[in-house]
Amino acid sequence: MAFNAEHIKWFRDSSPYIDAHRGRTFVISLASEALDSQNIGNIISDVALLNSLGVRIVLTYSADAQVKAALSAAGIECPSHNGQLIITPQAMPVATGAVGAVTADLCARLSSSAPDSPAERREISAVSGNFLKAKPIGIVDGLDHQHTGAVRKVNARAIHHLLDADAIVLIPAMGFSPSGEVFLLDPLASAREAACSLSADKLIFLSSVPGLSNADGNLISEIDLSDTSRAELAADSPGIALLEHCKSACNRGVARCHIISYGTDGAILEELFTRDGCGTQIIGHSYEQIRPASLDDVPGILKLIEPLEASGALVKRSRELLESEIDHFTVIERDGLLISCAALYLYGDHGELACVVTHPDYRKSDRGDRLLEVIEKKARQLGLTRLFVLTTQSAHWFSERGFAHTSIESLPEARQAYYNYQRNSRVLSKAL
Ligand SMILES: CC(C)(COP(=O)(O)OP(=O)(O)OC[C@H]1O[C@@H](n2cnc3c(N)ncnc32)[C@H](O)[C@@H]1OP(=O)(O)O)[C@@H](O)C(=O)NCCC(=O)NCCS
Repeated sequence: MAFNAEHIKWFRDSSPYIDAHRGRTFVISLASEALDSQNIGNIISDVALLNSLGVRIVLTYSADAQVKAALSAAGIECPSHNGQLIITPQAMPVATGAVGAVTADLCARLSSSAPDSPAERREISAVSGNFLKAKPIGIVDGLDHQHTGAVRKVNARAIHHLLDADAIVLIPAMGFSPSGEVFLLDPLASAREAACSLSADKLIFLSSVPGLSNADGNLISEIDLSDTSRAELAADSPGIALLEHCKSACNRGVARCHIISYGTDGAILEELFTRDGCGTQIIGHSYEQIRPASLDDVPGILKLIEPLEASGALVKRSRELLESEIDHFTVIERDGLLISCAALYLYGDHGELACVVTHPDYRKSDRGDRLLEVIEKKARQLGLTRLFVLTTQSAHWFSERGFAHTSIESLPEARQAYYNYQRNSRVLSKAL
């Protein structure tokens, strides 16, 4: 495949996401059918890529299909209840064997040394263990669920310890009780519990559906759970059970959940490294915050303003200058990305509003207005009476927000002294 301008653009566009995802914890839940799908090699390769980009990966997986196949091959019949297989003591050795085989297969894939495999780039540690403490489901509707259990506790400390060491943690839907028994668990609930206990940044379901769809069959790219006006999905919508797990995870502190298809090559990368993604993203609470900037924000602000400096819309600011002036900045952060910023400089009882920027992908959603509101409030609290701004290309934006054109001479003297006549910026001001 030729490396063309599109690849270069894609790679450049993905760089903010690479920064945003580094050091974050993602729990990825693999449906058991995914393990036997043609795409499994690509999925594991993409998981390894995330690991090499510094994402902390926990891979949870169901081996339901493999367990059923193994039981059938062994001629063992197990009852089921509400779609859940009941594992009898006789079936247990076969079930643990099937889960063990899947775990070994995943470890083998992650360690594979084929030329285009992850291990070619660097060595990956994949670790599995007794991370899920289980309890029996017990008797439901008069039926003893025997070795089919539920998650009782997740050993988050041990998992974090391994993630700190860059390992990929493999967690099959199998748990262990303090009495020494083994239980097969609901895989979706296991993934959810792991994500909640780890306070994961993302819970990603690689499922048989490409995402959630509305009544017209169109894919819904984002569901904001805090938006009470959103339409509820029909109870029989494909993937609706996943949505319930996502809602529960979001309510318990997981920042975002994603439902994507295991059958689509590169779905994880498209969902995580492009603005539109390819599945459904579920947001539990507004993940955007306006806050004062700190030194850690300097790289993000530089990234935001560099294209505008190049186009002449903003005056050039060096990293050193930004570092020394960072206290003047207010930023909007969304999902770990800096998407808007603005600065306020003081000249007596006048303030200069400067460097007002929203990332092109996030414009026209009132972020500029919200920043202006925060800066004006801050200015009033500081006792300022007037705000002014110098702009080459956004005079209309400010005039529509109450700023009026004024002269260079009306600027505070200290600011007039370094007015750049070559840039020829327009001056606008507003009484507070
Ligand atoms: C100006 C800017 C900060 C607005 O950000 P934003 O988050 O999109 O702001 P809002 O959503 O509150 O406002 C969007 C509205 O402003 C309009 N707008 C954006 N840039 C404009 C401009 N240069 N002139 C006039 N209107 C403009 C948009 O068309 C939209 O109006 P509409 O919905 O009626 O079409 C953003 O366009 C930007 O980063 N521009 C480049 C940097 C710049 O020039 N900054 C000012 C100098 S300090």
